Amino acid sequence: MNEYDIINFENRLMANVFAKRPVVITRGKGALVWDINGKEYVDCMGSYGVALLGHSHPKVVEAVCKQAETLISCHASLYNNKRTEFLQKLMSITPKGLNKAFLSNSGAESVECALKLARKFTGKPEIIAAMGAFHGKTMGALSATWDKKYREPFQPLVPEFKHVPPDNLEKLSHAITDKTAAILIEPIRGEGGVRIPPEGFLQGLREICDEKDVLLILDEVQTSFGRTGRLFACEHWGVTPDVMCLAKPFAGGLPIGITVAKENIMSSFKVGDHSSTFSGSPLVCAAACAAINVLVEDKLTERAAVLGGYFKARLEELQAKYKIVKEVRGLGLMLGVELRYDVRNIILKTMDRGVLILDAGRNVLRFLPPLVVEKEQIDKTISVLDEMIGEEENERSSGAAAN
Ligand SMILES: Cc1ncc(COP(=O)(O)O)c(C=O)c1O
Repeated sequence: MNEYDIINFENRLMANVFAKRPVVITRGKGALVWDINGKEYVDCMGSYGVALLGHSHPKVVEAVCKQAETLISCHASLYNNKRTEFLQKLMSITPKGLNKAFLSNSGAESVECALKLARKFTGKPEIIAAMGAFHGKTMGALSATWDKKYREPFQPLVPEFKHVPPDNLEKLSHAITDKTAAILIEPIRGEGGVRIPPEGFLQGLREICDEKDVLLILDEVQTSFGRTGRLFACEHWGVTPDVMCLAKPFAGGLPIGITVAKENIMSSFKVGDHSSTFSGSPLVCAAACAAINVLVEDKLTERAAVLGGYFKARLEELQAKYKIVKEVRGLGLMLGVELRYDVRNIILKTMDRGVLILDAGRNVLRFLPPLVVEKEQIDKTISVLDEMIGEEENERSSGAAAN
Protein backbone atom coordinates (compact mmCIF):
# COMPACT_ATOMS: atom_id res chain seq x y z
CA MET A 1 0.00 0.00 0.00
CA ASN A 2 1.32 3.45 -0.77
CA GLU A 3 1.46 6.47 1.55
CA TYR A 4 -1.70 8.00 0.11
CA ASP A 5 -3.77 4.81 0.57
CA ILE A 6 -2.55 4.29 4.15
CA ILE A 7 -3.47 7.82 5.17
CA ASN A 8 -6.87 7.50 3.50
CA PHE A 9 -7.67 4.13 5.09
CA GLU A 10 -6.61 5.20 8.58
CA ASN A 11 -8.68 8.34 8.32
CA ARG A 12 -11.68 6.37 7.10
CA LEU A 13 -11.43 3.29 9.34
CA MET A 14 -10.10 4.63 12.63
CA ALA A 15 -11.86 6.93 15.10
CA ASN A 16 -10.81 10.44 14.25
CA VAL A 17 -9.57 11.41 17.71
CA PHE A 18 -5.87 11.98 17.09
CA ALA A 19 -4.39 15.21 15.70
CA LYS A 20 -2.76 13.36 12.81
CA ARG A 21 0.44 14.44 11.11
CA PRO A 22 0.70 13.61 7.42
CA VAL A 23 3.47 11.01 7.64
CA VAL A 24 3.53 7.19 7.56
CA ILE A 25 6.19 5.77 9.90
CA THR A 26 7.26 2.23 9.08
CA ARG A 27 10.56 1.56 10.88
CA GLY A 28 12.54 2.66 13.92
CA LYS A 29 15.94 2.07 15.50
CA GLY A 30 17.27 3.86 18.56
CA ALA A 31 16.19 7.49 18.45
CA LEU A 32 15.52 7.41 14.71
CA VAL A 33 12.40 6.50 12.72
CA TRP A 34 11.88 6.27 8.98
CA ASP A 35 8.79 6.95 6.91
CA ILE A 36 7.42 4.84 4.08
CA ASN A 37 9.56 6.77 1.58
CA GLY A 38 12.76 6.05 3.51
CA LYS A 39 13.05 9.54 4.95
CA GLU A 40 14.81 9.66 8.35
CA TYR A 41 13.57 11.55 11.42
CA VAL A 42 15.10 12.24 14.84
CA ASP A 43 12.27 11.12 17.11
CA CYS A 44 11.86 13.62 19.92
CA MET A 45 8.23 12.49 20.26
CA GLY A 46 9.42 9.05 21.39
CA SER A 47 5.88 7.69 20.94
CA TYR A 48 4.75 10.12 23.68
CA GLY A 49 7.45 8.82 26.01
CA VAL A 50 6.94 5.11 25.33
CA ALA A 51 10.10 4.61 23.24
CA LEU A 52 12.40 5.52 26.12
CA LEU A 53 14.88 2.71 25.35
CA GLY A 54 14.85 3.59 21.66
CA HIS A 55 12.82 1.86 19.00
CA SER A 56 13.01 -1.94 18.74
CA HIS A 57 15.75 -2.30 21.33
CA PRO A 58 17.52 -5.60 20.43
CA LYS A 59 17.28 -6.96 24.00
CA VAL A 60 13.53 -6.29 24.12
CA VAL A 61 13.08 -7.81 20.66
CA GLU A 62 15.00 -10.92 21.72
CA ALA A 63 12.98 -11.30 24.95
CA VAL A 64 9.65 -10.83 23.11
CA CYS A 65 10.53 -13.35 20.38
CA LYS A 66 11.67 -15.94 22.90
CA GLN A 67 8.63 -15.50 25.13
CA ALA A 68 6.22 -15.49 22.16
CA GLU A 69 7.41 -18.99 21.32
CA THR A 70 6.91 -20.16 24.91
CA LEU A 71 3.71 -18.57 26.23
CA ILE A 72 2.00 -15.34 25.20
CA SER A 73 -1.03 -15.12 27.47
CA CYS A 74 -1.71 -16.42 30.95
CA HIS A 75 -4.58 -14.99 33.00
CA ALA A 76 -3.58 -13.63 36.40
CA SER A 77 -5.80 -16.23 38.10
CA LEU A 78 -2.95 -18.63 37.20
CA TYR A 79 0.63 -18.13 38.37
CA ASN A 80 3.37 -17.42 35.84
CA ASN A 81 7.17 -17.38 36.08
CA LYS A 82 7.71 -14.28 33.86
CA ARG A 83 5.16 -12.29 35.82
CA THR A 84 6.91 -13.15 39.08
CA GLU A 85 10.30 -12.30 37.58
CA PHE A 86 8.99 -8.92 36.44
CA LEU A 87 7.34 -8.12 39.79
CA GLN A 88 10.61 -8.87 41.59
CA LYS A 89 12.59 -6.66 39.21
CA LEU A 90 9.99 -3.91 39.50
CA MET A 91 10.16 -3.92 43.29
CA SER A 92 13.95 -3.75 43.10
CA ILE A 93 13.69 -0.31 41.46
CA THR A 94 10.54 1.25 42.98
CA PRO A 95 10.99 3.64 45.92
CA LYS A 96 11.31 1.85 49.24
CA GLY A 97 7.93 0.97 50.72
CA LEU A 98 6.08 0.73 47.41
CA ASN A 99 6.02 -3.01 47.11
CA LYS A 100 2.69 -4.37 45.89
CA ALA A 101 1.39 -3.83 42.36
CA PHE A 102 -1.59 -4.18 40.07
CA LEU A 103 -0.66 -4.67 36.41
CA SER A 104 -2.75 -3.32 33.55
CA ASN A 105 -2.28 -1.99 30.03
CA SER A 106 -2.09 1.81 29.95
CA GLY A 107 -1.55 4.99 31.91
CA ALA A 108 -5.25 5.73 32.28
CA GLU A 109 -5.81 2.22 33.63
CA SER A 110 -3.04 2.67 36.17
CA VAL A 111 -4.81 5.85 37.32
CA GLU A 112 -8.24 4.15 37.43
CA CYS A 113 -6.81 1.51 39.70
CA ALA A 114 -5.22 4.12 41.99
CA LEU A 115 -8.54 5.98 42.29
CA LYS A 116 -10.48 2.85 43.18
CA LEU A 117 -7.75 1.83 45.60
CA ALA A 118 -7.85 5.22 47.36
CA ARG A 119 -11.61 4.94 47.85
CA LYS A 120 -11.41 1.32 48.98
CA PHE A 121 -8.55 1.87 51.44
CA THR A 122 -9.87 5.07 53.02
CA GLY A 123 -13.59 4.45 52.67
CA LYS A 124 -13.84 8.09 51.51
CA PRO A 125 -14.97 9.34 48.09
CA GLU A 126 -13.19 12.62 47.34
CA ILE A 127 -10.15 13.02 45.09
CA ILE A 128 -8.25 16.31 44.78
CA ALA A 129 -6.31 16.96 41.56
CA ALA A 130 -4.48 19.98 40.16
CA MET A 131 -5.69 22.52 37.63
CA GLY A 132 -3.66 21.86 34.49
CA ALA A 133 -3.31 18.15 35.30
CA PHE A 134 -3.49 15.35 32.77
CA HIS A 135 -4.21 11.82 33.96
CA GLY A 136 -5.79 10.16 30.92
CA LYS A 137 -9.18 9.99 29.25
CA THR A 138 -11.13 7.05 30.68
CA MET A 139 -14.01 8.26 32.87
CA GLY A 140 -12.20 8.14 36.23
CA ALA A 141 -8.89 9.45 34.91
CA LEU A 142 -10.77 12.08 32.88
CA SER A 143 -12.50 13.26 36.04
CA ALA A 144 -9.05 14.07 37.41
CA THR A 145 -7.81 15.60 34.12
CA TRP A 146 -8.25 19.36 34.04
CA ASP A 147 -8.67 20.60 30.45
CA LYS A 148 -12.33 21.33 29.79
CA LYS A 149 -12.03 20.53 26.10
CA TYR A 150 -11.44 16.90 27.13
CA ARG A 151 -14.06 16.89 29.89
CA GLU A 152 -17.06 18.86 28.76
CA PRO A 153 -18.49 16.58 26.05
CA PHE A 154 -18.58 13.70 28.52
CA GLN A 155 -20.38 15.18 31.52
CA PRO A 156 -21.42 14.02 33.99
CA LEU A 157 -18.07 12.64 35.06
CA VAL A 158 -17.30 10.68 38.22
CA PRO A 159 -18.52 12.70 41.25
CA GLU A 160 -16.41 13.96 44.16
CA PHE A 161 -13.42 15.19 42.14
CA LYS A 162 -12.17 18.70 42.66
CA HIS A 163 -9.32 20.73 41.21
CA VAL A 164 -7.14 23.24 43.00
CA PRO A 165 -4.49 25.63 41.66
CA PRO A 166 -1.18 23.82 41.14
CA ASP A 167 1.95 24.43 43.22
CA ASN A 168 -0.04 26.08 46.01
CA LEU A 169 0.24 24.24 49.32
CA GLU A 170 -2.14 26.53 51.15
CA LYS A 171 -4.97 26.06 48.65
CA LEU A 172 -4.35 22.30 48.56
CA SER A 173 -4.44 22.07 52.31
CA HIS A 174 -7.67 24.10 52.51
CA ALA A 175 -9.29 21.89 49.89
CA ILE A 176 -8.98 18.78 52.05
CA THR A 177 -12.17 17.82 53.88
CA ASP A 178 -13.17 14.86 56.02
CA LYS A 179 -14.40 13.25 52.77
CA THR A 180 -11.00 13.42 51.05
CA ALA A 181 -9.43 10.09 50.14
CA ALA A 182 -6.40 11.24 48.14
CA ILE A 183 -4.49 13.94 46.36
CA LEU A 184 -3.51 12.87 42.86
CA ILE A 185 -0.72 14.82 41.22
CA GLU A 186 1.97 14.62 38.52
CA PRO A 187 5.37 15.45 40.03
CA ILE A 188 6.14 17.33 36.80
CA ARG A 189 3.13 18.27 34.69
CA GLY A 190 3.75 16.87 31.20
CA GLU A 191 0.77 17.62 28.99
CA GLY A 192 0.26 20.74 31.11
CA GLY A 193 3.42 22.28 29.63
CA VAL A 194 6.42 20.53 31.28
CA ARG A 195 6.07 22.40 34.55
CA ILE A 196 8.34 21.66 37.48
CA PRO A 197 6.95 22.41 40.95
CA PRO A 198 8.66 25.03 43.09
CA GLU A 199 11.32 23.86 45.53
CA GLY A 200 9.78 22.37 48.66
CA PHE A 201 6.34 21.83 47.11
CA LEU A 202 6.30 18.04 46.96
CA GLN A 203 7.88 17.72 50.41
CA GLY A 204 5.23 20.12 51.76
CA LEU A 205 2.48 18.15 50.06
CA ARG A 206 3.78 14.92 51.61
CA GLU A 207 3.65 16.57 55.05
CA ILE A 208 0.10 17.83 54.52
CA CYS A 209 -1.07 14.38 53.40
CA ASP A 210 0.53 12.79 56.48
CA GLU A 211 -0.93 15.39 58.83
CA LYS A 212 -4.42 15.16 57.39
CA ASP A 213 -4.35 11.41 56.82
CA VAL A 214 -4.92 11.65 53.08
CA LEU A 215 -3.23 9.43 50.49
CA LEU A 216 -0.66 10.93 48.16
CA ILE A 217 -0.92 9.42 44.67
CA LEU A 218 1.82 10.41 42.25
CA ASP A 219 1.13 9.98 38.55
CA GLU A 220 4.57 9.15 37.16
CA VAL A 221 3.26 7.79 33.87
CA GLN A 222 5.38 10.30 31.93
CA THR A 223 8.15 11.13 34.41
CA SER A 224 9.42 7.70 35.49
CA PHE A 225 11.89 5.07 34.23
CA GLY A 226 14.86 7.40 34.22
CA ARG A 227 13.26 10.02 32.00
CA THR A 228 14.07 13.00 34.25
CA GLY A 229 17.56 11.86 35.29
CA ARG A 230 16.25 9.90 38.27
CA LEU A 231 14.46 6.55 38.12
CA PHE A 232 11.31 8.29 39.40
CA ALA A 233 10.82 12.06 39.39
CA CYS A 234 9.74 12.02 43.05
CA GLU A 235 13.34 11.10 43.91
CA HIS A 236 14.46 14.62 42.94
CA TRP A 237 12.63 15.83 46.03
CA GLY A 238 13.10 12.79 48.29
CA VAL A 239 9.36 12.17 48.46
CA THR A 240 7.70 8.74 48.46
CA PRO A 241 3.99 8.62 47.62
CA ASP A 242 1.51 6.09 49.01
CA VAL A 243 0.47 5.03 45.52
CA MET A 244 2.28 5.54 42.21
CA CYS A 245 0.93 5.26 38.66
CA LEU A 246 3.31 4.01 35.97
CA ALA A 247 2.96 3.08 32.31
CA LYS A 248 4.42 4.23 28.97
CA PRO A 249 8.02 2.86 28.71
CA PHE A 250 7.98 0.09 31.30
CA ALA A 251 7.57 -2.76 28.79
CA GLY A 252 10.04 -1.49 26.19
CA GLY A 253 7.20 -0.33 23.90
CA LEU A 254 4.49 -2.91 24.61
CA PRO A 255 1.31 -1.78 26.40
CA ILE A 256 1.58 -1.77 30.17
CA GLY A 257 0.13 0.04 33.17
CA ILE A 258 1.34 -0.42 36.73
CA THR A 259 -0.21 0.81 39.95
CA VAL A 260 2.23 0.26 42.77
CA ALA A 261 1.39 0.99 46.39
CA LYS A 262 2.36 0.39 49.97
CA GLU A 263 1.57 -3.18 50.90
CA ASN A 264 -1.19 -2.36 53.40
CA ILE A 265 -2.92 -0.06 50.92
CA MET A 266 -2.87 -2.49 47.98
CA SER A 267 -4.01 -5.24 50.36
CA SER A 268 -7.31 -3.42 50.89
CA PHE A 269 -8.29 -4.78 47.45
CA LYS A 270 -10.01 -8.14 47.87
CA VAL A 271 -10.69 -10.83 45.24
CA GLY A 272 -12.94 -9.38 42.55
CA ASP A 273 -12.43 -5.70 43.51
CA HIS A 274 -10.45 -4.99 40.36
CA SER A 275 -9.17 -6.91 37.33
CA SER A 276 -8.05 -6.76 33.73
CA THR A 277 -7.93 -9.73 31.36
CA PHE A 278 -4.41 -8.90 30.15
CA SER A 279 -3.02 -8.11 33.64
CA GLY A 280 0.62 -9.20 33.68
CA SER A 281 0.70 -11.26 30.50
CA PRO A 282 3.93 -13.28 30.09
CA LEU A 283 4.76 -11.56 26.80
CA VAL A 284 4.53 -8.06 28.26
CA CYS A 285 6.31 -9.13 31.45
CA ALA A 286 9.18 -10.63 29.43
CA ALA A 287 9.53 -7.34 27.55
CA ALA A 288 9.35 -5.41 30.83
CA CYS A 289 12.08 -7.58 32.42
CA ALA A 290 14.33 -6.88 29.44
CA ALA A 291 13.47 -3.17 29.60
CA ILE A 292 14.48 -2.89 33.27
CA ASN A 293 17.72 -4.79 32.54
CA VAL A 294 18.61 -2.40 29.72
CA LEU A 295 17.72 0.67 31.79
CA VAL A 296 19.92 -0.41 34.68
CA GLU A 297 22.82 -2.05 32.78
CA ASP A 298 23.16 0.73 30.23
CA LYS A 299 22.87 3.40 32.95
CA LEU A 300 20.24 5.23 30.93
CA THR A 301 19.02 7.27 33.90
CA GLU A 302 22.47 8.82 34.26
CA ARG A 303 22.58 9.31 30.50
CA ALA A 304 19.25 11.19 30.65
CA ALA A 305 20.71 13.51 33.29
CA VAL A 306 23.86 14.27 31.28
CA LEU A 307 22.34 14.51 27.79
CA GLY A 308 19.29 16.31 29.19
CA GLY A 309 21.60 18.94 30.63
CA TYR A 310 23.29 19.34 27.25
CA PHE A 311 19.96 19.47 25.35
CA LYS A 312 18.54 22.03 27.77
CA ALA A 313 21.61 24.25 27.51
CA ARG A 314 21.34 24.18 23.70
CA LEU A 315 17.64 25.08 23.91
CA GLU A 316 18.54 27.96 26.21
CA GLU A 317 20.86 29.25 23.48
CA LEU A 318 17.76 29.51 21.27
CA GLN A 319 15.94 31.33 24.05
CA ALA A 320 18.77 33.85 24.24
CA LYS A 321 18.66 34.28 20.45
CA TYR A 322 14.92 34.57 19.75
CA LYS A 323 12.31 36.83 21.30
CA ILE A 324 9.48 34.42 20.53
CA VAL A 325 11.04 31.85 22.87
CA LYS A 326 9.66 32.62 26.31
CA GLU A 327 11.05 29.89 28.55
CA VAL A 328 12.93 26.58 28.56
CA ARG A 329 11.89 24.07 31.24
CA GLY A 330 12.46 20.46 32.21
CA LEU A 331 14.58 17.86 33.88
CA GLY A 332 16.68 15.18 32.19
CA LEU A 333 15.23 14.28 28.81
CA MET A 334 11.77 15.68 29.55
CA LEU A 335 12.05 19.17 28.16
CA GLY A 336 9.70 21.96 27.14
CA VAL A 337 10.15 25.21 25.24
CA GLU A 338 7.39 27.76 25.71
CA LEU A 339 6.90 30.07 22.74
CA ARG A 340 4.91 33.27 22.70
CA TYR A 341 2.76 31.81 19.91
CA ASP A 342 1.04 28.63 18.77
CA VAL A 343 3.63 25.88 18.09
CA ARG A 344 1.67 23.85 15.50
CA ASN A 345 3.35 25.55 12.55
CA ILE A 346 6.85 24.94 13.87
CA ILE A 347 6.03 21.30 14.65
CA LEU A 348 4.90 20.67 11.05
CA LYS A 349 7.87 22.52 9.58
CA THR A 350 10.44 20.68 11.73
CA MET A 351 8.82 17.41 10.68
CA ASP A 352 9.45 18.32 7.05
CA ARG A 353 13.08 18.85 8.02
CA GLY A 354 13.39 15.42 9.68
CA VAL A 355 12.70 16.12 13.37
CA LEU A 356 9.58 14.96 15.25
CA ILE A 357 8.57 17.13 18.21
CA LEU A 358 5.54 17.01 20.53
CA ASP A 359 3.40 19.83 21.78
CA ALA A 360 2.15 20.34 25.32
CA GLY A 361 -0.80 22.66 25.07
CA ARG A 362 -1.01 25.45 22.52
CA ASN A 363 2.37 27.10 22.86
CA VAL A 364 4.84 24.61 24.34
CA LEU A 365 7.17 22.39 22.31
CA ARG A 366 7.81 19.18 24.24
CA PHE A 367 10.75 16.81 23.84
CA LEU A 368 10.56 13.19 25.07
CA PRO A 369 13.35 11.56 23.02
CA PRO A 370 14.58 8.03 23.71
CA LEU A 371 17.31 8.12 26.36
CA VAL A 372 19.66 6.51 23.82
CA VAL A 373 19.51 9.66 21.67
CA GLU A 374 22.97 10.67 20.42
CA LYS A 375 24.53 14.08 20.94
CA GLU A 376 24.66 14.56 17.14
CA GLN A 377 20.92 13.89 16.94
CA ILE A 378 20.33 16.57 19.58
CA ASP A 379 22.55 18.92 17.54
CA LYS A 380 20.50 18.21 14.41
CA THR A 381 17.30 18.93 16.36
CA ILE A 382 18.73 22.23 17.58
CA SER A 383 19.92 23.34 14.16
CA VAL A 384 16.52 22.56 12.55
CA LEU A 385 14.73 24.34 15.38
CA ASP A 386 17.10 27.29 15.12
CA GLU A 387 16.16 27.73 11.48
CA MET A 388 12.43 27.17 11.98
CA ILE A 389 12.09 29.45 15.01
CA GLY A 390 14.15 32.04 13.15
CA GLU A 391 11.80 31.85 10.16
CA GLU A 392 8.75 32.09 12.43
CA GLU A 393 10.18 35.10 14.24
CA ASN A 394 10.99 36.85 10.94
CA GLU A 395 7.55 36.16 9.52
CA ARG A 396 5.88 37.42 12.67
CA SER A 397 7.98 40.57 12.89
CA SER A 398 7.59 41.39 9.16
CA GLY A 399 3.82 40.69 9.50
CA ALA A 400 3.70 43.00 12.48
CA ALA A 401 5.73 45.61 10.59
CA ALA A 402 3.35 45.37 7.60
CA ASN A 403 0.31 45.88 9.84
C1 LIG B 1 0.83 11.88 33.44
C2 LIG B 1 -0.03 11.01 32.59
N1 LIG B 1 -0.96 10.23 33.16
C3 LIG B 1 -1.75 9.42 32.44
C4 LIG B 1 -1.65 9.36 31.08
C5 LIG B 1 -2.55 8.47 30.29
O1 LIG B 1 -1.84 7.43 29.75
P1 LIG B 1 -2.46 6.54 28.54
O2 LIG B 1 -2.53 7.42 27.35
O3 LIG B 1 -1.49 5.40 28.40
O4 LIG B 1 -3.80 6.09 28.99
C6 LIG B 1 -0.69 10.15 30.43
C7 LIG B 1 -0.56 10.12 28.96
O5 LIG B 1 0.10 10.88 28.33
C8 LIG B 1 0.14 11.00 31.20
O6 LIG B 1 1.06 11.79 30.63
